[in-house]
Amino acid sequence: MDFGNGTFYAFKMTSSQQHPLSEPLPRTEYQGILFPGIVPKENLQAMETFEIRDDDVVIVSYPKSGINWMFEIVHNVLGGKSENSSPVGPEFWPPGRQQPSYIQLRETPSPRLMVTHLPTQLAPPGLANPTTEVKVIVVLRNPKDVCVSSYYFRQKNRLEKTPESWEQFSKDFLDGKVQYGDYFDHVLGWWQKQDDPHFLFVKYEDMKKDFRSSVKTIAAFLEKELTDEDLARVLTNRSLESMRKKLAESDDWRKIIVRKGIVGDWKNHFSAEESARFDQKYREKMAGSGLEFEFE
Ligand code: A3P
Repeated sequence: MDFGNGTFYAFKMTSSQQHPLSEPLPRTEYQGILFPGIVPKENLQAMETFEIRDDDVVIVSYPKSGINWMFEIVHNVLGGKSENSSPVGPEFWPPGRQQPSYIQLRETPSPRLMVTHLPTQLAPPGLANPTTEVKVIVVLRNPKDVCVSSYYFRQKNRLEKTPESWEQFSKDFLDGKVQYGDYFDHVLGWWQKQDDPHFLFVKYEDMKKDFRSSVKTIAAFLEKELTDEDLARVLTNRSLESMRKKLAESDDWRKIIVRKGIVGDWKNHFSAEESARFDQKYREKMAGSGLEFEFE
């Protein structure tokens, strides 16, 4: 989860408690991957010993793939019966908090609902290779729309430097020089768990195409029986327009989450050359993985 719309600020373990709200935070670099400043190195190190519980539900995604949408759906499907009513990721130190999230989550009673953008190699071991009954939902979205969504998010997020230009940003994205690193490595890392029953993979494009059956699949994975009324409630409450209204009213970073909410907005931004470069890397990286996306 990326935090930050300027209405709050992140604390760094040592010095950034006084960081001005309106200025970008310096990024973190850890094991060759860039992270937003709200993910301090100390938190990333702490992931090595962060414990996952039997009844945890964790939503994983590369940023801008629809994690907030999934969080709201899961929260609704679980009947609001998780301790966290807004997304909390163990790697963050949320603005305005006196302690990092992994400490807060350690003290949170079960059942916990968490989110994370961490790649497999930096995720808590109990998440990347579960030995408990944890349920992990991985949200995937095609890279071109993720790139566009990230570009706009960076523009609105006052804790981040505004990208120089679309041309430079899309190049950096393709080169993996963006937060949370290379999209393809990230997605393929989690995709290796496709046959592990702890994991459910849901594509943004499928949720857009058939929201009803996506919610049913999610509920079945969570072992929650939904009545027709429950299902109708989730579909209404978590539609694009309901989410837009709900999050616009929130007084935190979630205000800037909902934008167009469509598949294929990339066509309004990519030049033919940029598109060809993405296609080439997509073909190279995805070859043999069995993972495919719809782009429109
Ligand atoms: P766009 O910027 O392409 O519109 P994340 O939650 O991972 O940050 O992802 C944000 C993306 O999810 C944004 O994409 C946002 O509009 C989209 N989104 C949020 N809620 C949605 C919903 N109910 N239906 C469809 N898309 C949604």
